[in-house]
Amino acid sequence: MSHKRVAILISGGGSNMVSLVDSMIGDHPARPCLVLANDAAAGGLQKAADRGVQTAIVDHRPFKGDRAAFEAELLKPILDVQPDVVCLAGFMRVLTGDFVSQFQGRMLNIHPSLLPKYKGLNTHARAIEAGDAEHGCTVHEVTAALDDGPILGQARVPIEIGDTPETLAGRVLGYEHQLYPAVLRRFVCGDKTPVLLP
Ligand code: GRF
Repeated sequence: MSHKRVAILISGGGSNMVSLVDSMIGDHPARPCLVLANDAAAGGLQKAADRGVQTAIVDHRPFKGDRAAFEAELLKPILDVQPDVVCLAGFMRVLTGDFVSQFQGRMLNIHPSLLPKYKGLNTHARAIEAGDAEHGCTVHEVTAALDDGPILGQARVPIEIGDTPETLAGRVLGYEHQLYPAVLRRFVCGDKTPVLLP
């Protein structure tokens, strides 16, 4: 049986990418085929290389806000590896509907909130500020609308007295590392039943 091919896009440390790559072993039906970063300094690139995964870099800065030109370049290494699934994992660039539409139904993202709450940035601080009892993370299919799209999994994390955005983010990140691999495994098997943790 040939494996499903998974391309992963990162911008930074790539801890979610590492969790995904390390999960795709043994009888897992998928294997990573590319780790692509929009920044040559992304720490995840070395972690991917250490795991024998092909890497590529398309720096967004030379395109200075010309999103279409950046995405035209970003597309090339992805199309070269012909992925079945594209996972955004700590990828911090907003993608246009044109780009996303080329992977509609097979592009996933992890967002550190219980969507539809707290789309966008600084989610942990906003949840604490709002006095919420819990926070968490969501894996969803990527659509043209930011941090929207069908939910494929969520992990709920209690907000504790004295939590700072940093302590909460650290706890949520640990759940991200469990949730994303669990969702990906179901997704590549064609199972869209949401994964709900704990
Ligand atoms: C995480 O908070 C994740 O939720 C968000 O990007 C942050 C860094 O992720 N998408 P990673 O360590 O680069 O995977």
